[in-house]
Amino acid sequence: MTYFKWTPDFDVKVQTMNDQHKVLIDIMDKLYELNDNGANKRDIQHKLDELGAYTRKHFADEERYMDSIDFEGRDRHKIIHKHLLTELDRHTTNFKELHQSLSEDFFFFLKHWLSSHIKHIDIKYGNVSSSLATLKAG
Ligand code: FEO
Repeated sequence: MTYFKWTPDFDVKVQTMNDQHKVLIDIMDKLYELNDNGANKRDIQHKLDELGAYTRKHFADEERYMDSIDFEGRDRHKIIHKHLLTELDRHTTNFKELHQSLSEDFFFFLKHWLSSHIKHIDIKYGNVSSSLATLKAG
């Protein structure tokens, strides 16, 4: 069963960002599957590192995109990214140092990240981007 899945309500109206969110959600789902199937610690750690690396790439690309459209909410958005990375790193260190599997708390954090950040924060630059496109077309 798929635990993390991109659905149209994650649409932020910017194709590149939608594509990256799909990759991110896919990595999260693989991580859930590995953990749920009782995979060994090394494999879980490998996927967790992939999530960390891809998240950093995505946040950097998204921040460049917000700069490119001069999105006025970008400073606040960048601070939220920093908080998410701090939390992800905290969970990662906690797992590496203390545990053999990932906690429910970790997956709750991922679910919350997707539902609150993409749907309510990322969508704001998507709305601005759509308005700019409409202006250009008009
Ligand atoms: Fe798509 Fe602000 O993360």
